[in-house]
Amino acid sequence: MAQNPARTGWLKPAVFSTALLPLAWLIWRIAANDLGPDPVQELAISTGEWTLRFLLITLTLTPLRQLSGQVAFVRVRRMVGLFTLFYAAAHFVVWLSLLLGFRWYAIGEELLERPYISIGFLALLILIALGVTSPRAMVRRMGKNWKRLHRLIYLAAILAIVHLTWILRTDLSEAVLYGSILALLFGYRLWRRFGRFRKL
Ligand code: HEM
Repeated sequence: MAQNPARTGWLKPAVFSTALLPLAWLIWRIAANDLGPDPVQELAISTGEWTLRFLLITLTLTPLRQLSGQVAFVRVRRMVGLFTLFYAAAHFVVWLSLLLGFRWYAIGEELLERPYISIGFLALLILIALGVTSPRAMVRRMGKNWKRLHRLIYLAAILAIVHLTWILRTDLSEAVLYGSILALLFGYRLWRRFGRFRKL
């Protein structure tokens, strides 16, 4: 269903401001000294959780567009995807500065010794590659390869769930919740690709 761009002009500013709310909330909590007994860990956890939430929201936009017929969902997809990268970068900076104390030389050691760090790092590298190639000019220049590359977002999402599962270890309820959302999204894509194709 085509929509009049003039009528949806408010959409991008609205999504942009909404996507900044978690950051504003976090800054507010820092200023109010309200991050609990371990503020550094709380910062690492919240930025990580928002990265994962934005990643999953990005993945739901295409199904929502297909199911509702509203193009508005895909109009904001690039922006939401870039916010995923933004929160992932914040998460990484918290780790590098507050947890690692900018000991750059220790990065390699951490990557080798802690599998959950290497898995998170790989997911971050994928998000960077997707962010760098997200401008329209890159879409045109890369042609079919753009789509192939951008399918890696699924791999980033799987890696993020593995990263979370590795950190949680015992109480896996959060990982099960996010993992189930991802499984649903995968199931939907597989159904679109193979289920409907078979019917034809
Ligand atoms: C797409 C990339 C990433 C996602 C989606 C992600 C997601 C998460 C989530 C959801 C948590 C919270 C776990 C909890 O509830 O306890 C977390 C924690 C954490 N992540 Fe990530 N992460 C990513 C990349 C990274 C990277 C690149 C690093 C470091 C190089 C990293 C280091 C950490 C650390 C140190 C914690 C805190 C662990 C603790 O509680 O002690 N993550 N991450």
